[in-house]
Amino acid sequence: MDERKHDKNVSENEVKPFQPSVNFVEQAKVKDDSLYREAENDRLAFWSKMAENIEWMEKWDQVLDDQNPPFYKWFINGKLNVSVNCLDRHVNNGRGDKQALLFEGENGDTVSLTYKELLNEVCKFSNALKGLGIGKGDAVTIWMPMIPEAITAMLACTRIGAVHSVVFGGFSPEALKDRIKDSESKLVITADGANRRGKEIPMRSAAEEALDQSPTVEKVIIVERTGTSYQPKEGRDLLWEDLMKDAEDSCEPEIMDAEDPLFILYSSGTTGKPKGILHTTGGYLVGVDTTFRYVFDHREEDIYWCTADIGWITGHSYIVYGPLSAGSTTFIYEGTPDYPARDRFWELIEKYKITIFYTAPTAIRSFMRWGNQHPDKRDLSSLRLLGSVGEPINPEAWLWYHEHIGNANCPIVDTWWQTETGMIMITPLPGVTGLKPGSATMAFPGIEADVVDDQGNSTGPGQRGFLVIKSPWPAMLRTLYKDPERFENTYWKQYPGLYFTGDGAWKDGDGYFWIMGRVDDVLNISGHRIGTMEVESALVEHPSVTEAAVIGKVHEIKGHSITSFVTLKEGVEGSDDLVQELKAHVGKKIGAIARPEEIFFTYELPKTRSGKIMRRLLRDIAEQRDLGDVTTLMDPQVVSAIKEGYKEK
Ligand code: PRX
Repeated sequence: MDERKHDKNVSENEVKPFQPSVNFVEQAKVKDDSLYREAENDRLAFWSKMAENIEWMEKWDQVLDDQNPPFYKWFINGKLNVSVNCLDRHVNNGRGDKQALLFEGENGDTVSLTYKELLNEVCKFSNALKGLGIGKGDAVTIWMPMIPEAITAMLACTRIGAVHSVVFGGFSPEALKDRIKDSESKLVITADGANRRGKEIPMRSAAEEALDQSPTVEKVIIVERTGTSYQPKEGRDLLWEDLMKDAEDSCEPEIMDAEDPLFILYSSGTTGKPKGILHTTGGYLVGVDTTFRYVFDHREEDIYWCTADIGWITGHSYIVYGPLSAGSTTFIYEGTPDYPARDRFWELIEKYKITIFYTAPTAIRSFMRWGNQHPDKRDLSSLRLLGSVGEPINPEAWLWYHEHIGNANCPIVDTWWQTETGMIMITPLPGVTGLKPGSATMAFPGIEADVVDDQGNSTGPGQRGFLVIKSPWPAMLRTLYKDPERFENTYWKQYPGLYFTGDGAWKDGDGYFWIMGRVDDVLNISGHRIGTMEVESALVEHPSVTEAAVIGKVHEIKGHSITSFVTLKEGVEGSDDLVQELKAHVGKKIGAIARPEEIFFTYELPKTRSGKIMRRLLRDIAEQRDLGDVTTLMDPQVVSAIKEGYKEK
């Protein structure tokens, strides 16, 4: 056994990297640093070459237009269709009978679709959409469980040029309503319900009010998944199955410009209003296709499983578009890892002979806590590559993953990226990069990442700073939907010419990146972004609340958990019942993922003299650290009162 794995005192800098095995390297797509050198020599020539892996209806005549920063454009005048790249071209290349999509439901029901079959489904649904008057540029909201129809719906939108906005199925109907409104969707695609840990979670009936209060919505399509009852609205609600029954199974793809919008995905920022991150067609597809092939070292026979939900960017880029564009077999599972038993994921890896497994550190920490007996009793020998995404992975979890899931035999690609970047940005190449547990290692070829100080100067080894991207990349967000000003202010104003990621980081002496997490008021809860302001806005909407401050407290499994400090209206008494009510209220407004773990009542919040809430102090209190100088506060008494009260709790 490798001694390094057990010596936690070795500093990250001194760790000798884990090198890929000879066997892995022999078969790897990239075995040396040639790809890095090629991209360094001529970044745009590199991306132009990568774009050759995509089928274009008309070739572009310029790789990058950087005349109007930060509104960059890629593959100018190129024409293509994403569904053609993900489906038709594989069928036309003789891979029509290859499995494109494998699905297992929580109850053990299965679906397997070849490329030919998935293309038929997508064409049928595209025709159904067209029959409802949906066409190029129309926004469609998808609020669905993890079932194959969700993927069919996304691809059908791309076929006809509609812009999808997938809303995570776990978000509340109110959050759904806000996103329908902002995107001005004409159509909503949902299900009667979702299966979750043996229970039926109603969707269509839960969304009744949200749909009724969305004036832009002309039609609602419902997949019958659970048999959960609801009151259909005549003239508006339609059944998926009815539409598919009579639909034709061929559909001419829309010819899309490389810069036509592909999808909107809402993500949390530092204000209460989620940002509609807009991705376009050509650059996005080139970015996810290239990274999928190289980061996951994709081989024809791979069975690939990414455990994300399609409601997040990881689901978009690395369940749907990357894998299907590369002609892979992508597996999806409807349920959670602990139902009906805590070995459910390992059972699925054994059953489907999964070769590549991509999950989040929060899940890995749960697996660790549940114990080795669960993976140990399953045959995981089909695995050859593991991946991690969503938050920094602690070395202990990395080592456990490596040993207990990968049998010390699979490289781990720790991939850093964001909803905004669209594609993986910092990552190992598994046949090349020596791995240091906890480091996402190096920028992908063709990506220029750096760590800078307050002035925007590169920091030296070991010096903490802010992670930035120094030049445009193909899958970058193009703007925030209907809010170009916020786009410029959020990402491009801190350092002229540099993209500001919102993450803190440092580089070690070998040039490896170590990501430290968000530096703004965005929390990372189980690998998902929730803005403190979103939760605060939800809390102050409650009639008993005057003011609220929300912080992320370090949490063993989730990365962060939400702690709220709440000031109540005059005459309202804090009680356990009210705590429960407020938690439920946030759950209703945003979704269960944003429910505060702790709510603490206080007569006042600590503020600077200019009235800014000092969340840093609240974080120190919650994590029981010493508080520095508090004399600059408006009312220094407040802090000691909160501190005392918090300790007693
Ligand atoms: O803080 C970083 C963290 O997740 C943020 C992006 O969140 P989201 O847009 O929801 O996308 C998540 C999936 C791509 C980043 O700003 N993050 C993501 N991956 C990593 C990470 N932090 C450290 N290491 C990672 N591998």
